[in-house]
Amino acid sequence: MAYFASKDRYLNMKYNRCGNSGLLLPAISLGLWHNFGGLGDYQKMKDILLKAFDMGISHFDLANNYGPPPGSAEINMKNILQSELGAHRDELIISTKAGYLMWEGPYGEWGSRKYVLASLDQSLKRMGLDYVDIFYSHRPDPDTPLEETMGALHSAVQQGKALYVGISNYDADQTEQAIDILQNLGTPCLIHQPKYNMFERWVEEELLSVLEKRGVGCIPFSPLAQGLLTDRYLNGIPADSRIASESIFLQEDHLKADILVKIKALNQHAEQRGQTLAQMALAWILSRKQVTSVVIGASSVNQLEINAGTIHNLKFSRDELAYIDNILLS
Ligand SMILES: NC(=O)c1ccc[n+]([C@@H]2O[C@H](COP(=O)([O-])OP(=O)(O)OC[C@H]3O[C@@H](n4cnc5c(N)ncnc54)[C@H](OP(=O)(O)O)[C@@H]3O)[C@@H](O)[C@H]2O)c1
Repeated sequence: MAYFASKDRYLNMKYNRCGNSGLLLPAISLGLWHNFGGLGDYQKMKDILLKAFDMGISHFDLANNYGPPPGSAEINMKNILQSELGAHRDELIISTKAGYLMWEGPYGEWGSRKYVLASLDQSLKRMGLDYVDIFYSHRPDPDTPLEETMGALHSAVQQGKALYVGISNYDADQTEQAIDILQNLGTPCLIHQPKYNMFERWVEEELLSVLEKRGVGCIPFSPLAQGLLTDRYLNGIPADSRIASESIFLQEDHLKADILVKIKALNQHAEQRGQTLAQMALAWILSRKQVTSVVIGASSVNQLEINAGTIHNLKFSRDELAYIDNILLS
């Protein structure tokens, strides 16, 4: 059946300015790390992506290595762009990244100019795009001068292959240095993509204040701790969950007894707020002023709809935040 985008698609999403830039991002963005690769169910991923667009989720986050197999999420994105979403290209923010292993030999990963620019060319080809909206350095490279990696991001913009650039998984010091280098080159750092959720709060130490001070946006990844911060595992491990899947990134030993106690206590508090735990976990991140958007994953349209509904209740009282901290730090 032909796809016609919902006419109401911008009525129920909140858009936040990304740092000091001109770019607005939806509070909820969708990532294609899991569930969108070549081994996944193509119709299901298409349903999720089209529903996302219909709900005002204008930002899709990819990386060269998303799959499995690596690269296949970008290929699926190309197919969905070509069949449905491509007509809306100017309404979409599509990001990709380079940093992790993509091909054999010394130029297949990390942060050399050779790898970063070749990887972007490959990503553009896989997605059938002339440019991406945001191009990231996916991880800092301890053995390559930061000037070289940032210079490659700058070149991508100069060559018209990326509109904006960002960094991911850089600590606070590396971030300040990267921002300075990019600023001197004349390509501002738009955004940082760190891991941040109720269970992993390292960004609160320094990174968030660096980003605020320097006017750089922040889009936390794995905001639901890969599904732990939802009702998914309240009563065991469902057969269709990430823990039960072949993914090596979330395994049964992540669901320790003390974590489950916290999940249950958080779930109770979410109920009192009239939200699901997933919604409360996302709102908790979005309530921080430095955060532009959260990049979620979803394995069903239903999960996506629940998560998009987060924006209707983003407020926490001081007492509530203290209560949540108490659960998390106990
Ligand atoms: N920059 C980086 O290094 C990096 C690293 C990792 C991820 N990312 C980005 O961040 C995105 C999100 O990562 P993530 O998938 O780990 O995020 P997440 O939002 O923390 O976890 C998503 C998973 O949680 C479960 N879930 C989501 N909504 C739910 C709901 N309402 N109720 C119950 N379960 C729900 C689903 O798992 P089930 O499959 O069990 O249903 C879903 O696949 C990625 O796609 C990628 O774009 C970036």
